[in-house]
This record gives sequence, structure tokens and C-alpha cells, in this order.
Amino acid sequence: MRPTVLTVVGTRPQFVKAAALSRALRGRFTEVLVHTGQHYDRELSAAFFEDLDLAPPDVTLDVGSAGHGPQTARMRAGLVAAIRDAGPAAVIVHGDTNSTLAGALAAAIAGAKLAHVEAGLRSGNLAMPEEVNRIAADHLADLDLAPTAAAMENLAAEGLRERAVLTGDVMLDACLTARGRARPGALGRHGLEPGRYAFATVHRAENTDRPSRLEGIAAGLARVGLPVLLPLHPRTRLALARHGIALPRNVVATAPLGYAETLALLDAAALVLTDSGGLQKEAWFLGTPCVTLREETEWPETLEGGWNRLAGTDPERIEAAAAAARSPTGERDLGRYGGGRAAERIVAALAERVGP
Ligand code: UD1
Repeated sequence: MRPTVLTVVGTRPQFVKAAALSRALRGRFTEVLVHTGQHYDRELSAAFFEDLDLAPPDVTLDVGSAGHGPQTARMRAGLVAAIRDAGPAAVIVHGDTNSTLAGALAAAIAGAKLAHVEAGLRSGNLAMPEEVNRIAADHLADLDLAPTAAAMENLAAEGLRERAVLTGDVMLDACLTARGRARPGALGRHGLEPGRYAFATVHRAENTDRPSRLEGIAAGLARVGLPVLLPLHPRTRLALARHGIALPRNVVATAPLGYAETLALLDAAALVLTDSGGLQKEAWFLGTPCVTLREETEWPETLEGGWNRLAGTDPERIEAAAAAARSPTGERDLGRYGGGRAAERIVAALAERVGP
């Protein structure tokens, strides 16, 4: 009989990562998929399951939105019960969200083995909930599955070398698969021409919850010299309204977009401006220059050769970075993110540690 693994998902990027891994995983294991309900709007959740052909969750916890403490507590209780019901050979958590932390704690409480996909990333900024979540998950895990050599070094520096395996990044696997199924109508739908617009996203709490930072980003977007398409996360839409911040005239806001449409728009953009970790990488995978609206990145490879530039939220720095970013010089080697074979390496590492 195949061993069971229980995968915890809850947010958009986790649906992407889990879908890329599920295809390979289900060849060797029986997968129980648990959705915490951290993301629940159709655009952020159900639309991704459809877009990615991800099997519907076996268990849904419907925890909804709340702060770091109460949200993870609610998830943890439901996850401990789900893990005890399924009795998996391993629990798999992805990335660094509150669902990741809750899954890691629940596995420890239920006495199940834990595998952390996208292990070893560090921003050095403990004010981000994501940094707390990823450190806790890495240290609780029996198996740390690292996407890059830099992540392996971070794990080794924290004494976790023995449980770490370099696998590559499942987001590259997902990107390469989806690119083959590109959406030809995506640009026309938004009235955009290839190479003549910028694509932007903003959703990090550190940016949305501080009006001065959000104002800086809006002023910076006004200076990039291109029309800017800005799909708005509900958190950002609420923050703009709450702080009375108007978007500049060159910025067109839309509802959140699906995965394939986002990739098509990223691919054809002249420039990406974002505070998302996933988008920084996807821009790099696709060869689109990126300006990161933060002071640090977990993906230092993307900075080489000027493909990604850290600009924070100061309008002048955003303007200067956007101008410089239009002509990156370095080579990009997708092998540094596993070349599209991360899922098979993760399955092999899991099979070695937990059978069959
Ligand atoms: C979460 C992750 C972040 C990840 C992002 C991907 C944490 C700490 N953050 O951020 O690392 O990059 O997902 O998108 O786990 N909301 C809705 N509908 C939804 C979900 C959320 O309206 O379906 C609104 C609510 O007002 C909620 C706010 O968005 O309070 C924030 O949601 P939350 O899940 O806490 O964090 P994200 O910003 O989505």
C-alpha cells in the first residue's frame, strides 16, 4: 500500500507550489490535501484550483482572516485533528505563511514527520510574519527541502545541514508547465501592448499597513514612465481606501488575477514592480526585469546582473531603479532554481526518508 502524505495549503502561492508537487507526489504517495481557509475569496482560492488543475481539498478548515496569533491558533487545532485522522507518513508544508507555521506546529503536536518545501530562505527581518514562520518551520521539520544553494547555506549556518536537501524550486516547475499553456488574450483584455507597460503588485503587511510606505509606492509608480497594471489584493484595496490614497493616472487597478493570466502579463511586461517573493522569481524565470518594493529579498540570485533591484518605497529610488532595470546585463541560469525538476527531487527525498 502507498504511504499517505498530508499537504497543508491555505494561500495563493501555496496552491501553485502544491499543484506542481502533487503531480509527481501522487505517483508514489496517497495525498490528503488540507486547505486551512486562510485565503477564501474565489479569486484568491477556488480560481487557482481550477487554473492549476489542483484536486479539490479533502479537508477544508475555513478559518478565515485574523491576526498572526489567533489565525495560526485556529488553524493549528483543526490541523492536529486532520493529521490524527489521516495518520500520514509525513506532513508537507510550503513556504512561509501563517498556514505553514500552523501546519508545522500541528505536525509536531500530533507527532508526525514534517517536510518543509521552500526551506532555508531568510530575509533577516524578524518584523515580517513570514520570517518567523519560515524559521519555525525549518527548525521543526525532519526534512528541509531547499530551493537554492543560498538556502542550503542558510540552513547549514543554523545547524540544519543534516536534514537539508537541495531540490530546486517547485515554482520554476509550475512556471515552465504553465508557460506552455499561455493565455493569448491576456494583454488585449487589459488594453496593453507587449513591452509597453509595467506590471505591479503590492500586498505585504509592511507596505500596506503603513500609509507613508503605500503613498511612497503610489508616487513611485507615477514615475515609471509607462502604463502600470496593478491587480489589487483585497488587503491593499482596503488599505488604499482606509488611508485615502489615490492611485496615479498611469496606474490601472484590476481585481486579483489567476495564475496563467499573471504569467502571460509578466512575460510581456517591460518591467515588474512588486513586494511579492513569488513574482520576483517569476519575473526572473521569464526574463522580465524587476524592481522590488522592499529593502531585502530572500532570492539574492535574482539581483545579479541587474535583473532585480531593491528600491524600498521611496519614489525617487523607485524611479531610478525602474530606469536602470530596463537594461539588465547578466545571464540567467535556470539551473540555479533546479531547472524545472524540483518536484521529482522532492518526491525522491521524501521516498528515501518516509518510504515507499
Ligand atoms: C498571505 C501571506 C503572505 C503571502 C500572501 C500571498 C501570511 C502572514 N502572509 O498574505 O506571505 O505572500 O498570503 O497572497 O501568511 N483577505 C480577503 N480575502 C481572502 C483572504 C484575505 O479579503 O480570501 C483580506 C482580509 O482583509 C485579510 C487580509 O486580506 O485580513 C490579509 O490576508 P492574510 O491571509 O492574513 O494575508 P495576505 O496578505 O493574503
